[in-house]
Amino acid sequence: MFRLPAFFFCTALLMLLGLNLKPGAAVREEARELLNQRCTVCHNLGRVEAADKDRRQWEAAIEKMIGFGARVSVDEKEVLVEYLSGK
Ligand code: HEC
Repeated sequence: MFRLPAFFFCTALLMLLGLNLKPGAAVREEARELLNQRCTVCHNLGRVEAADKDRRQWEAAIEKMIGFGARVSVDEKEVLVEYLSGK
């Protein structure tokens, strides 16, 4: 009698975890939001989309943008580099 609810509870928990265990999709979503919010202050995304850079080059580019005044935290930079170098 006790086992059935426990079984359903565990299944529901696993399903919830499953939904949350998609870091790829979440990171892409966050990166796109950051791009639209932080990277369109001084220019449009045309040059971001046109750029073909590897991870290291994106890090350098975003550092340069921060130097220009872009407001990007260390964590946000990581998200952007991940997204931009993986596309
Ligand atoms: C404070 C203004 C500012 C913000 C905010 C900004 N940029 Fe820029 N960006 C510039 C300027 C100025 C240039 C042109 C100078 C140059 O090419 O070095 C530029 C050029 C670029 C270029 C082309 C040059 C290169 O290095 O490839 C890319 C790519 C780029 N920005 C990406 C970004 C990204 C990604 C963000 C968001 C994290 C961002 N920018 C936010 C000012 C800004």
